Amino acid sequence: MGTTILGIESSCDDTSAAVITDGILRSNVIASQKVHEAFGGVVPELASRAHQQNILPVVSEALRQAGVKAKDLDAIAFTRGPGLLGSLLVGTSFAKGMAVGLGIPVVDVNHLHGHVLSHFIKESEDQEVPDFPFMALLVSGGNSQIIMVKSPYEMEMLGTTIDDAAGEAFDKCAKVMGLPYPGGPHIDRLAAQGNPEAFKFAKPHIPGLDYSFSGLKTSFLYTVRDNLKEDPDFISKRMPDLAASLQKTIIEILIDKLAKAVKEYPVKEIAIGGGVSANSGVRNAVEEFCRRRNIKAWIPKRAFTTDNAAMVAIAGYFKYLNKDFCSLDLPPYSKVQV
Ligand code: KG4
Repeated sequence: MGTTILGIESSCDDTSAAVITDGILRSNVIASQKVHEAFGGVVPELASRAHQQNILPVVSEALRQAGVKAKDLDAIAFTRGPGLLGSLLVGTSFAKGMAVGLGIPVVDVNHLHGHVLSHFIKESEDQEVPDFPFMALLVSGGNSQIIMVKSPYEMEMLGTTIDDAAGEAFDKCAKVMGLPYPGGPHIDRLAAQGNPEAFKFAKPHIPGLDYSFSGLKTSFLYTVRDNLKEDPDFISKRMPDLAASLQKTIIEILIDKLAKAVKEYPVKEIAIGGGVSANSGVRNAVEEFCRRRNIKAWIPKRAFTTDNAAMVAIAGYFKYLNKDFCSLDLPPYSKVQV
């Protein structure tokens, strides 16, 4: 058997395990935690407890589906950060314990590098992958970044959010509209039926390639509050229009900075990743943006946009080939480190 890596992801509220052999995906199992829905957001302590309950069955199932025995593994890759510390501790401790038991190395993966490298998860031998260097737009619940990807090991962050992430803007505005958590997919669905020009929301004017979404969130909140004074049924009457206008503004903010980035750093290929890259409007806008500039666009399969261990396994596979192993005393980290 070729080089076989088990990947473990536990940075937020999805417990996931995946097996990759020589870069080809053999299994990708995800247990999403329903326990948070009632709270309108992820409750860290509940997430850690659910990871503890899920991790053993999820890893066993990933090995079973891949047709792999634990003794066939060459290394275990795990998400070391960024994320919720208690959640990360579960995956980190499990990966280290299992690797020590099997006498194989552990490889630590930066969750954000995982999202970027998700384009290298191959489901067949002849699947095409991006050429280095390429630019990545990483848009998730916790991050909005523009990254220059020079190799699987070398990434330079060109811009990042100075406050909220794009996913937070979707989720927090959706919460104001009374939609369930996470609100992003609901906004996406409603936006398809609404008028994107119905409402105008504030857009940031900050220098450089950094993002900001907190002003948009405030402006959305004020629009809803002011209209509710006139009509108590405002939200239910105008939901699709609110969703479409919000989505349009988020996309414009993302694309404006991407345009600035490619002017400063001309590239031939752009890849998007992270939970928000599942958004239909974002996917279409990036494709259109790239088509106009003769840039190749890499749009991930939806299954690989939100948190998954396949991306951790592929990022770990690259590090394994580079013999970049993790010492057992390295703890998880919660904050971004690109
Ligand atoms: O990458 P991810 O699973 O978690 C982080 O690592 O942060 O991203 C989750 C985020 C949530 O904010 C969720 O609302 C958003 O991705 N999301 C979407 C869509 N699907 C997921 N946002 C907009 N449209 C979607 N279709």
